Amino acid sequence: MTTIAFDQIKGFVFDLDGVITDTSLYHTKAWRQLAEKLGVTWTKTLEDGLKGISRMDSLEMILKAGNKENDYTQDEKVALATEKNTNYVNAIHQMTPANILPGIKAFLDDLRANGYLIALASASKNGPTVLKQLELTDYFPKIVDPATLSKGKPDPEIYVKGAEALDLDPTQCIGVEDAAAGIQAINGANETSIGIGDPDTLSAADIHFNDTSEMTLANIAKAMA
Ligand code: G6P
Ligand code: MG
Repeated sequence: MTTIAFDQIKGFVFDLDGVITDTSLYHTKAWRQLAEKLGVTWTKTLEDGLKGISRMDSLEMILKAGNKENDYTQDEKVALATEKNTNYVNAIHQMTPANILPGIKAFLDDLRANGYLIALASASKNGPTVLKQLELTDYFPKIVDPATLSKGKPDPEIYVKGAEALDLDPTQCIGVEDAAAGIQAINGANETSIGIGDPDTLSAADIHFNDTSEMTLANIAKAMA
């Protein structure tokens, strides 16, 4: 639990999938299709556990769930992950600004109007494409490139780099996530965490909202008072 005061906050570091837009539906659909093709039973636990996890780590989790982690060579694994990504990329090309989650555009406008700095800390290599589809590119001048990370979420690295990109101390940043692995990463980076979604999954978050429309500066200030 952070004890930082709201007026110390200068920047926001955002996850993308499940926070800005509901790409998690498309990720899930593409992974599920691959898992079932490989004979791995799809479960809600597996589905939730994949949120925030990088592409190759996600594939490993799926193979492990089916006790198949030793059944493929590295090259075959790359081919499987590429197959999933091709399906995912086809799906996201149909996205439009209508796919922005409720209240997010207004919140970003409010952040801008109040001089907060904004960065993206998504594990997705497709982040810039998704932002383009949503016409939100201009709101995110700073994007942590997931290709530069040595460890994925729940490791704090991506959120540490998000604060660095904004030239802020991590304590001056709020991180926003929909996944348990992401909240762990924000907390580990020493930023204030906002969890959006299921309260049980996100019990480690400093601040919790049930959905994106509840995320306003006024509600955040109230939660930190
Ligand atoms: C996000 C999503 C994950 C996804 C990861 C990598 O963190 O929550 O579901 O696996 O990004 O995305 P990519 O588009 O690079 O495969
Ligand atoms: Mg997410």
